[in-house]
Amino acid sequence: MKKIYIHPLPVRIWHWTNAFGFVLLILTGLQIRYLDLFQWVSFKMAVDLHNWIGFVLIANFFIWLGFYLFTDKIKVYHPELSPTKYFKESFRQMQYYGYGIFRGEVNPHHPNAYRKFNPLQSMMYQIIMMMLVPAQFFTGLLLWDVARFSSIVEALGGVRVVDTIHVLLFIVFSGFIIVHVYLASLGHTPSAHFKAMITGYEEVEGDGHHG
Ligand code: HEM
Repeated sequence: MKKIYIHPLPVRIWHWTNAFGFVLLILTGLQIRYLDLFQWVSFKMAVDLHNWIGFVLIANFFIWLGFYLFTDKIKVYHPELSPTKYFKESFRQMQYYGYGIFRGEVNPHHPNAYRKFNPLQSMMYQIIMMMLVPAQFFTGLLLWDVARFSSIVEALGGVRVVDTIHVLLFIVFSGFIIVHVYLASLGHTPSAHFKAMITGYEEVEGDGHHG
């Protein structure tokens, strides 16, 4: 076993702030949306907390974006330019998660600092971070003060449309977190990837220079 440094500090700070914030947003969001089902805190407290955490996470997002835009680590998100290779590798990775892993096979992806993600992770994380998270933050901002942003809200089809997008994305994120935490537990030990996102170092077999 050899340790390789794959999660730089800004990414780790962003990630855990974001993860903790998302859980709180989901809990307060559940109360705001389904008032008759959940009453964790007073309604006003739920709304205030939801708004504040939302703003903190919007600012936090720029730690992640800024880090990748201004360092060469952006390479971890560079797409594979050969479609055949991309689909082959994605398929191989799906086969591993769907069945190889249950037969004790080795993960086909061997990470290093510039290729820490398998093709499925790289694509999923980009969809999440460049489309879904910004859309959630943007609709959240509009709903925070519908009067101030009334022209944008109207242009998008009104409060109901904006709110529906916000709630649908909330459902997507709730599902994402469950799948994400499950997949994150599939390292060479169940806690390996979690530890890596805390310390920055992932343990890999061999000399750490594969792939
Ligand atoms: C709630 C508990 C969460 C846990 C335990 C968790 C765990 C992890 C772990 C262990 C990794 C390391 C790499 C990997 O396995 O893919 C990771 C990466 C990542 N997670 Fe999470 N996560 C959580 C929530 C979230 C949320 C809410 C989001 C986004 C909305 C998110 C987005 C990401 C992204 C984008 C990466 C890749 C980061 C990079 O650019 O290096 N995670 N997560």
